[in-house]
Amino acid sequence: MKLFIDSADIDEIKEVLSYGILDGVTTNPSLIKKAVEKRKNVNMESYIKEILRVCKGKPVSLEVVGTHYDEMVDEGLTIYNKFNKVAKNVCIKIPVNPCLDTECSSSSEGIKAIKFLSKNKIPVNCTLIFTPEQALLASKAGAKFVSPFAGREDDYIREMNRIKFKKEDYFPKEGFKKGKKTLTDNGIISGVHLIRECVEIIKKSKLNTKVLAASIRSVRQFREVGEVGADVATVPFEVIKKLLNHKKTVEGMRKFTKDVIPEYAKVVGSKRGK
Ligand code: E4P
Repeated sequence: MKLFIDSADIDEIKEVLSYGILDGVTTNPSLIKKAVEKRKNVNMESYIKEILRVCKGKPVSLEVVGTHYDEMVDEGLTIYNKFNKVAKNVCIKIPVNPCLDTECSSSSEGIKAIKFLSKNKIPVNCTLIFTPEQALLASKAGAKFVSPFAGREDDYIREMNRIKFKKEDYFPKEGFKKGKKTLTDNGIISGVHLIRECVEIIKKSKLNTKVLAASIRSVRQFREVGEVGADVATVPFEVIKKLLNHKKTVEGMRKFTKDVIPEYAKVVGSKRGK
């Protein structure tokens, strides 16, 4: 599974790049806002160009802000033409259903925009996916990536059932039981299950789209989306930092470090043990 960082913060991106294991970056308007609020007098265009430059060879998703086909296509073309020349790594993020009313209505504007951009060889990451059928339609329209939101799916199942939770609380991949009943969102029992179903439907339809597991809240969720076949996981900096943690690793390190004898330190070229 590839690892992307879910961040627009250049310092976080550079830090994880220095580990040598980063495969790409996803941003969204909220992440851009957060990164800009932290800094003074940001020149947006130069800031984005710097992100693209440091991530050369790795896809960076930049999201459109319009909600109609024409706007999304125009913005997608503007972003691509303005920024792709920097490092040839721009991916346009398009919402699967850019509808703003609260009635859960349907808008096909996103799907049509994906079709147009993909046909014109512009890579698209289709975002805000909460059902396998949304993933399928986006994939059929030509999206290079589909981004199902695992963490927000877990939030939704809890919210619908008035269950109190903290953002980082673990949500079992096999679903949340209330009495004998497993809670579902139209058959989806957890964020990890959503990822699994997206992987399955795309594989069975013999489509080439990559499933990018988004909205990852914990180390365990990162592991579980990998186990169900996500091609990519996009992970916030705070979670990436925890991916190497284990108490027993630290305990073992302490013991090994304490036990180094001078003879061994000498043969391995270390100054420790003196
Ligand atoms: C995906 O690309 C989104 O930027 C992101 O994963 C959303 O995560 P959140 O639910 O933690 O905001």
